[in-house]
Amino acid sequence: MDVLRIRGGNALHGEVTVGGAKNACLPLLAATLLTDKPCVLRNVPDLSDSRFMIEILRHQGATVEPLGGNAWRITATEVQPKTPYELVRKMRASICVMGALVGRLSHAEIPLPGGCVIGQRPIDLHIKGLKKLGCSIENHAGMMRIDASKLRGAYVFLGGRYGSTVTGTANILMAAVRAPGITHIDCAACEPEVQDLCRMLVKMGAKISGIGSPMLEIEGVEKLHGCEYTVIPDRIEAGTHLLCGAITRGDVTVHGAVAAHLGAFLDKMDEAGIPFETLSPSDIRVRGDMIKTLRPIDIVTLPHPGFPTDLQAQFSAVLALTPGLSIITERIYPNRFMHVPELLRMGADIAIEGPSAIIKGVPALSGAPVMASDLRASAALVLAGLAAEGETWVQRIYHLDRGYEKFEVQLAHLGADIVRLKHTDMPSEFLGE
Ligand code: EPU
Repeated sequence: MDVLRIRGGNALHGEVTVGGAKNACLPLLAATLLTDKPCVLRNVPDLSDSRFMIEILRHQGATVEPLGGNAWRITATEVQPKTPYELVRKMRASICVMGALVGRLSHAEIPLPGGCVIGQRPIDLHIKGLKKLGCSIENHAGMMRIDASKLRGAYVFLGGRYGSTVTGTANILMAAVRAPGITHIDCAACEPEVQDLCRMLVKMGAKISGIGSPMLEIEGVEKLHGCEYTVIPDRIEAGTHLLCGAITRGDVTVHGAVAAHLGAFLDKMDEAGIPFETLSPSDIRVRGDMIKTLRPIDIVTLPHPGFPTDLQAQFSAVLALTPGLSIITERIYPNRFMHVPELLRMGADIAIEGPSAIIKGVPALSGAPVMASDLRASAALVLAGLAAEGETWVQRIYHLDRGYEKFEVQLAHLGADIVRLKHTDMPSEFLGE
């Protein structure tokens, strides 16, 4: 197993370009199953999650060809209705093939995905939505058997106790674009990744209005055609790089940092006293070297346009080194604090109180062997390692590889002392942790 060794203390300098958004490309790949015509997707990030989604498309019967330069051609002339548990178990997000299968076929069989380390993650809203659209769903030995033969447009309210659902909105959208009649998705997720899916579906011939708002109106069409589409840049990767520049007191320009996708996050950078400059609608320069004093802040994660849950772990690494008391409250995944015990090992002072992390800034962190538990927690540990004194060894970085393309190569290019090594390269006293 690979590990990252980081020797902290180097200020990062230079330019970095973020890849295509993981959470946009997964539903976009799934959407190609809605047509028997070829679709070309560009800017697909080379991540384990995207490779895995491609494997699922092939399993469903699609021909998937690499065109080079992160572009893929997908042709789903025939689609088979069953997705095996073996595939869904490995990547929760594979549930987003459900809407595409329902939109394309009269029946589908998909396993219930189960929970994951960041929370329970039910799919009750997806199921409720499909039922509203006329599907009947039976649960048989962990498999959902969906009869979509009576699919039709309807009013669907997708709000749950944590707000709307990103993948749920994607699933209902993909079913609704082929459902005869009009569908209204009320309390739809507004995330840029959902907007991206809407735009690709429109390019494929779907009729959708209200894109980017919580009320989507879809007029079902009989057929969708192929299209060429470019995935939006990854706002979470962009935000992570901006924080890397800030925590190391560096000067980093992030290409593909779309300010319009990062409003709440940039507002918190500003409030925390991290200077940055928006050079163009998709280029932001962070001036960690110009930080005078960092200020403690409160963050509450919320559905878009609120502060994204996928950036809270990374921001907590910065706040761990910010004098004063900061509070992060999780309103999407109340238990998403798996990074905290590892930051404590590095000398942070953080207490968890219910859905909040109370962070008392310390003057310095010290390097330590730490364990990544999920994708964003891994990124938080890398951030902490970049700023810590001494050596940090981040283990289980397969989590990181799910969402960051060649992260350590990019950071090394910016001047970080970071290398990917084998687990067995760790100092013997750390082995076995
Ligand atoms: N929820 C329900 N019922 C449902 C669906 C969701 O109660 O039927 C709850 C969830 O348990 C959670 C909240 O609603 O508390 C939001 O869940 P949502 O469905 O929006 O999350 P998701 O679609 O499963 C996507 C991203 C996550 C990101 C969340 C929130 C993908 C593949 N994943 O998940 O990304 O955290 O939206 O923005 O798009 C990540 O990239 O690290 C990641 C976890």
